[in-house]
Amino acid sequence: MITVKSAQSDHFDVGVTELDSEHQVQVGLVIALQKAVAQDREPAILGDILDQLSNYTNTHFMAEQVLMQLYEYPHYDPHVQEHDCFMVRLRTLQQRYRSENLKLTDQTIVSLKNWILAHIQGPDRGLAEYLIKHGIGRQAARQGSLAVL
Ligand SMILES: [Fe+2]
Ligand SMILES: [Fe+2]
Repeated sequence: MITVKSAQSDHFDVGVTELDSEHQVQVGLVIALQKAVAQDREPAILGDILDQLSNYTNTHFMAEQVLMQLYEYPHYDPHVQEHDCFMVRLRTLQQRYRSENLKLTDQTIVSLKNWILAHIQGPDRGLAEYLIKHGIGRQAARQGSLAVL
């Protein structure tokens, strides 16, 4: 079920409830990682949060890509390319953290967070606008409530 919000409540809300909920988890995980690094938590905990961020981000990207295909989104290729590049970055970081004892720095995490926020505010917002225009939310707009796929 896909729903649309009646108003954008946050600077990184794109207006489609499911995407916004997933983005909140994704951003929440990167902030959790940033806090854990700042608190100098033990490597196993940092590694676990990094794994969760990577796995969740991958699942979220897959969900967006299914929506793009369902709704024949015209900018599928460049959007997927951005997802793929970021997943390579996350997986490389995971691998280097596990096998090379790479030290996670605040700078690295801020760079990940900035990428995520820029992606949400750019390509994801464009996708959400397209989805709303092409069906998601039409029913909600009529009923003045949440919409259904
Ligand atoms: Fe997204
Ligand atoms: Fe995306």
